[in-house]
Amino acid sequence: MLKVIRALLLTALFMPSLLLAQSSTLAATPPMGWNSWNLFAGRVTDKDVRAAADAMVSSGMKDAGYIYVNIDDTWQGERDAQGNIQANSKFPDMKALTDYVHSKGLKIGIYSGPGAQTCAHYAGSLGHEAQDAKTYADWGFDYLKYDLCSFRKNMMEEAPNDPAKATQMMKDAYAKMQKALLATGRPIVYSFCQYGWDAVWEWGPSLGANLWRTTGDINPTWDRMTLIGFSQAGLSKYAGPGHWNDPDMLEVGNGKLTLDENRLHMSLWAMLAAPLLAGNDLSKMPPETAAILTNHEVIAIDQDELGKQGDRVSAVGPVEIWAKSLKGGDKAVALFNRDDTPLPVTVKFSDLGLKSAKARDIWQAKDLGKLDGSYTATVPRHGVVLLRLTK
Ligand code: GAL
Repeated sequence: MLKVIRALLLTALFMPSLLLAQSSTLAATPPMGWNSWNLFAGRVTDKDVRAAADAMVSSGMKDAGYIYVNIDDTWQGERDAQGNIQANSKFPDMKALTDYVHSKGLKIGIYSGPGAQTCAHYAGSLGHEAQDAKTYADWGFDYLKYDLCSFRKNMMEEAPNDPAKATQMMKDAYAKMQKALLATGRPIVYSFCQYGWDAVWEWGPSLGANLWRTTGDINPTWDRMTLIGFSQAGLSKYAGPGHWNDPDMLEVGNGKLTLDENRLHMSLWAMLAAPLLAGNDLSKMPPETAAILTNHEVIAIDQDELGKQGDRVSAVGPVEIWAKSLKGGDKAVALFNRDDTPLPVTVKFSDLGLKSAKARDIWQAKDLGKLDGSYTATVPRHGVVLLRLTK
């Protein structure tokens, strides 16, 4: 009897920490790091990941708060006779790689999915969830992106005319991996990637999601980046410490985005309290790109401890004003211009619940002094004026 009581007490003692292992103690602020997909896609190698870790330190990204170096799809090889997943020849020694990344004071992430195959047709975790989670933990991974991909086929085959059953299958698949990750005892950030289906923001957190993709894939174009970013209006109530909306990884420094477009992208993601996962080649990063990614005042908005996602205050034609509450009563306010020409934009403080405020223009790194009633700025085409207001 005593033994049973002791066991029960021990379970009660350790349960909360187990339950928390995939929640608010991890990702207390939106995860920051780098992911291989946006630039390297299927070509990523061990060497690229090491170079990204090196550059994360030498470029100042690490000092700015970027910690996770995440391997996306295409690392997987065959399973061995016992069913253990092995890396392919692009990743000769996963343990040595995670040791290397950890030796830089960084953390490292890996990728899989609940289906038989990933999106790039490499081995997924179907039927091997517990085994794979244990392998990731043994290798030393700190983060898992779990991508629905071919599991959609299973859903369509098993529940062709039954959307409720299909949704339940998907939830069960994500829950299965949550259980497997918890069983490893290693804190592993759990990142859902199922493109925002079935309002994942409503149920993802209860299945241990530290972040969940809210949309399909981003690409480094003005149209796609803004379509995704501005479509996040209304989702703010679902985010908070330990669980974040993820409008996909950053394209800052990729494609042909201009300086103003990159600044708008970074500002919008910061206003959204979005995970900041750079997707550019850190080892060949021009100073303008580094300056955007490492701007500590913009990062402070994203990483604000209050953990409140910002939301839209107004949208009139191509002009949008968004606000985000910050710890201590400050507010971040973004004046966005989606038009092809510069435009004057006025923010009325009464719309923010303020009469007057001390303001700072963050990208100009300039204090604007005390402002009364409103503020008007000329916002560049495809650009932003980002303000921090203090009462
Ligand atoms: C997509 C996912 C991308 C990337 C890719 C890899 O489904 O949204 O972010 O992970 O798969 O194949």
